[in-house]
Amino acid sequence: MLHFCVISVLACLLPVSLGASVEFCYHLSSCNDAQWPKLYPDYCNGSRQSPVDIVTASAVDDSSLGAFTFNGFDDKTAMSKIKNTDNTVKVDLNTGKVNVSGGGLPTSYDTLQFHFHWGNGSSVGGSEHTVDGTRYPMELHIVNVKSSLNLNTKLAIADGTGFAVLGFFIEVDSGTTDQPAAWKTLASHLDNITLHNEYVSITGISLNDLITGVDLTSYYRYLGSLTTPSCNEAVVWTVFKNPIRVSKNLIDLFSNTVRIGNSSSSDLLTNVYRNVQPLNGRQISQTVSSSSLEYCYHDVSCYPLAWATAFAASCNDNRQSPVDIVSANALDDSSLGAFTFNGFDNTAAMSKIKNTGKTVKVEFKSGLLSVSGGGLSTSYDTLQFHIHWGNTSTVAGSEHTLNGKQFPMELHIVNAKSSHNGNISQVLQDSTGLAALGFFIEVESGSTDQPASWKTLTSHLANITQKNKYVNITGISMNDLISGVDLTSYYRYLGSLTTPDCNEAVVWTVFKDSIKVSQNLIDLFSTTVRIGDSSSQFAVNTFRPVLPLNGRKIRQTRTATSASGSISATKASLTVGLGALYAILRLW
Ligand SMILES: *[C@@H]1O[C@H](CO)[C@@H](O)[C@H](O)[C@H]1NC(C)=O
Ligand SMILES: *[C@@H]1O[C@H](CO)[C@@H](O)[C@H](O)[C@H]1NC(C)=O
Ligand SMILES: *[C@@H]1O[C@H](CO)[C@@H](O)[C@H](O)[C@H]1NC(C)=O
Ligand SMILES: *[C@@H]1O[C@H](CO)[C@@H](O)[C@H](O)[C@H]1NC(C)=O
Ligand SMILES: *[C@@H]1O[C@H](CO)[C@@H](O)[C@H](O)[C@H]1NC(C)=O
Ligand SMILES: *[C@@H]1O[C@H](CO)[C@@H](O)[C@H](O)[C@H]1NC(C)=O
Ligand SMILES: *[C@@H]1O[C@H](CO)[C@@H](O)[C@H](O)[C@H]1NC(C)=O
Ligand SMILES: *[C@@H]1O[C@H](CO)[C@@H](O)[C@H](O)[C@H]1NC(C)=O
Ligand SMILES: *[C@@H]1O[C@H](CO)[C@@H](O)[C@H](O)[C@H]1NC(C)=O
Repeated sequence: MLHFCVISVLACLLPVSLGASVEFCYHLSSCNDAQWPKLYPDYCNGSRQSPVDIVTASAVDDSSLGAFTFNGFDDKTAMSKIKNTDNTVKVDLNTGKVNVSGGGLPTSYDTLQFHFHWGNGSSVGGSEHTVDGTRYPMELHIVNVKSSLNLNTKLAIADGTGFAVLGFFIEVDSGTTDQPAAWKTLASHLDNITLHNEYVSITGISLNDLITGVDLTSYYRYLGSLTTPSCNEAVVWTVFKNPIRVSKNLIDLFSNTVRIGNSSSSDLLTNVYRNVQPLNGRQISQTVSSSSLEYCYHDVSCYPLAWATAFAASCNDNRQSPVDIVSANALDDSSLGAFTFNGFDNTAAMSKIKNTGKTVKVEFKSGLLSVSGGGLSTSYDTLQFHIHWGNTSTVAGSEHTLNGKQFPMELHIVNAKSSHNGNISQVLQDSTGLAALGFFIEVESGSTDQPASWKTLTSHLANITQKNKYVNITGISMNDLISGVDLTSYYRYLGSLTTPDCNEAVVWTVFKDSIKVSQNLIDLFSTTVRIGDSSSQFAVNTFRPVLPLNGRKIRQTRTATSASGSISATKASLTVGLGALYAILRLW
């Protein structure tokens, strides 16, 4: 590698120090990344090194980070050869065909090559950058050199912004094989370059084919270094938020096929990444989405850990939900009496069941259900309920946890303070504008299709597999779904919506008793409901992880009482304006 680089700096993966006597590696303690600061003291011991861990909550919005202009990314003849360099698999591009500008870069950059970093199979991560400590299976780096330097990489390594590297995370596209087609083509060449310095020509696929599906307007930016010796601090880094999705079998090929050295009996090339380096005060900036960002559960760009940044108005405040309920710390409160539930036995009150792309939500017809009592200061109109779940029986999905335990699912009944007469902004600005009733859902072991009301509810899921689909629902009441739960025994605390904008406007009730549902019905949520169209992935793990109490106290009903809740069937007398209030359904 070193030898090769001396001969041709440009053809080398990334320039290395000409003075070093030992080649760097990933797999031996004598030359792995822990030794690089010693072996290559210029510059691997610097203070502007890459890769880094990207802490999403600390990334700073920068509206100057606009769209890129990619020239030649659709050219299927731009790639020249794919090569085993002993430290990676690298694809060289034909010069002059591809360049990139815009994206907040200071100038235009010519695209030289791309290469990969991987772990060991898809289950041992191998990306170089990490996001909130999470390492992806692989990372793709497209290396570009400042156009004004006329491909002179010696000049580039001495220029603080001499290179622009585009980093793409690669994630498993579960349930597929040999996808995307361009990745199958690319990976099919690995068999021909199993040994050091072997290469074959590659054509017929474009860079766009490889980065398909990634939102190229959404990325992180920071100043760093080459991630291999000599670690020159000459790189403007772009790390895209959306990963490329690739079938597991293709990801596995990298660590199963390519070897270090000359011999077919030498070690496979695995764990090809440098560990993350300290930021040393550097700032990571990020694009600001022009359209209001849609939150999600499945993707690092919009999943719960990104909400604190993306929805900073409230999601990173200190009265957030859900929380872990530590039962031993809960304070007995005799003012927490029985609830009055109006209309909860009405079997004609539900209007529709809908796949929102994030959850399954059932809306109630206007003016039929309400809640009061239960230590609430006033009456609340019942708007809807929805459900949070994990992934079949393997991953639990409740939002609140009890003494650290997560339950398979959680049902939330959402109620808005009646006195606001449907004024949403008033409701959200009131610290007790909403009352949410949370019910843990546990497996009723040894049963199938139970309770009957849940079989009815879940029978509709097959009709709402795609986002925004809904069907009418009738014949079951709210009471049918929570039947068997002791409604006089609950926890109480002040919190927030558990989805953006995370408004701190919620009086939370979490019932101690759980709803019991057969495993087969619980499984239907994570195996039927999709986040988008029929080709999109299933909605799984639709919960926000717990947040700190920050000194809040959780109160509980006095454990001694055993009076049964008064469940009233009276129709609520509601005030005007409720129609407008139903717009709040969007918010949750
Ligand atoms: C790296 O730099 C640190 C501080 O700048 C220094 O303490 C350390 O000895 C250096 N290590 C090497 C191997 O040069
Ligand atoms: C970028 O590439 C396009 C063709 O793909 C070319 O027309 C243009 O001159 C290039 N720009 C630079 C600065 O090299
Ligand atoms: C990579 O994974 C394989 C199979 O799981 C294992 O046999 C091998 O030891 C691993 N290699 C390294 C370097 O961890
Ligand atoms: C790659 O190897 C296969 C056999 O493994 C061979 O049939 C094919 O011709 C080779 N392709 C190139 C471009 O060398
Ligand atoms: C490859 O083999 C040749 C001799 O066949 C040897 O000179 C060279 O050092 C080997 N290279 C590597 C990286 O093992
Ligand atoms: C959900 O579980 C299924 C089956 O256990 C598994 O194949 C799938 O990868 C899981 N999905 C996620 C996102 O973890
Ligand atoms: C809602 O309440 C706010 C503040 O009290 C008020 O400014 C606004 O006009 C009200 N909106 C409607 C639709 O009544
Ligand atoms: C739900 O789907 C089933 C078939 O999958 C169909 O027979 C039924 O009519 C659908 N119901 C509604 C309300 O669309
Ligand atoms: C659903 O209910 C609405 C009225 O609530 C009705 O207009 C509509 O036709 C119903 N749709 C179906 C498919 O039954």
